[in-house]
Amino acid sequence: MSSLTVNYLGIPMASPVIGASGTVGYGLELSDYIDMKKIGALSGKGLAPTPWKGNEGVRVVETTSGMLNCIGLENPGAPWFIQHYLPEVRKLPTAFIANMVGKSVEEYAECARMLTVPGISALEVNISCPNVKEGGAAFGTDPAQAAAVTRAVKDATTLPVIVKLSPNVTDIVSIAKAVEDAGADSISLINTLLGIAIDTRTRRPILGNITGGLSGPAIKPVALRMVWQTAKAVHIPVCGLGGIMTGEDVVEFMMAGASTVQVGTANLADPTAMERIVNEMDEWCDKNNVKDINEIVGTLKD
Ligand SMILES: Cc1cc2nc3c(=O)[nH]c(=O)nc-3n(C[C@H](O)[C@H](O)[C@H](O)COP(=O)(O)O)c2cc1C
Repeated sequence: MSSLTVNYLGIPMASPVIGASGTVGYGLELSDYIDMKKIGALSGKGLAPTPWKGNEGVRVVETTSGMLNCIGLENPGAPWFIQHYLPEVRKLPTAFIANMVGKSVEEYAECARMLTVPGISALEVNISCPNVKEGGAAFGTDPAQAAAVTRAVKDATTLPVIVKLSPNVTDIVSIAKAVEDAGADSISLINTLLGIAIDTRTRRPILGNITGGLSGPAIKPVALRMVWQTAKAVHIPVCGLGGIMTGEDVVEFMMAGASTVQVGTANLADPTAMERIVNEMDEWCDKNNVKDINEIVGTLKD
């Protein structure tokens, strides 16, 4: 038996596998399908200081190699989450990371203050959502704005801060370094890639928002490249995600430099995916004589 345990930002985790924001709800429904004790942590659906309605019209469409979504960060708001969901979430035998978003630097700070409560192990700051007009991506595509949000959140919380980056940029390293310099404890990447799907019959875009975020197996090579570039450039731990479907995919991300990973779209195709992925990692370690999963981080021979 190999050891899959990791220590991420002071949080002891049973495995490096974290449920990705927006694909696991707040973990309560998923706990009927998988053994949460095997999952390192869950990152909940993005929370803002007040409830957001999200986008109108069609929000999800399947493509040949993944899915496009434009949910628009619909969420009940941090106070409602804390009052109604957190008491149940705290009973799950895995760590909980609160993913958060805001429409201004002040809103990000306010949300961080609200979410600094027992039962939440870390904050994941989404500066990368492509599906909202204000906030989200605007902060993730400019190093100065990304740094400003990071600094404001760090000042507002005592929790470890993970900043989630957008792949919709030409130079990921400049954004990663800016958030590291601003005090981020970790970086997670990638969020979804901007795309469009068209209904040729009506000559209209399928999604209500016209554009949406592409996720799933199609984006894995892009994610791996960005994780590799970022892990080489920063000194803080990198959490890698994008298109992970199997245990061997996780191994690739860790070799590219990720200390932990997140599984997103795979959960939507198969709610048991994360437990299967952890089991496959265990088998991979046994077959390859790896006694401790941490050994493989950043071992890509490049
Ligand atoms: C339906 C859906 C909703 C999402 N909502 C969020 C969100 O609220 N906050 C966030 O940071 N990322 C969100 N994401 C992005 C995922 O967490 C992840 O970064 C992305 O899907 C790539 O990973 P994957 O290919 O494994 O899904 C969402 C993704 C999907 C598919």
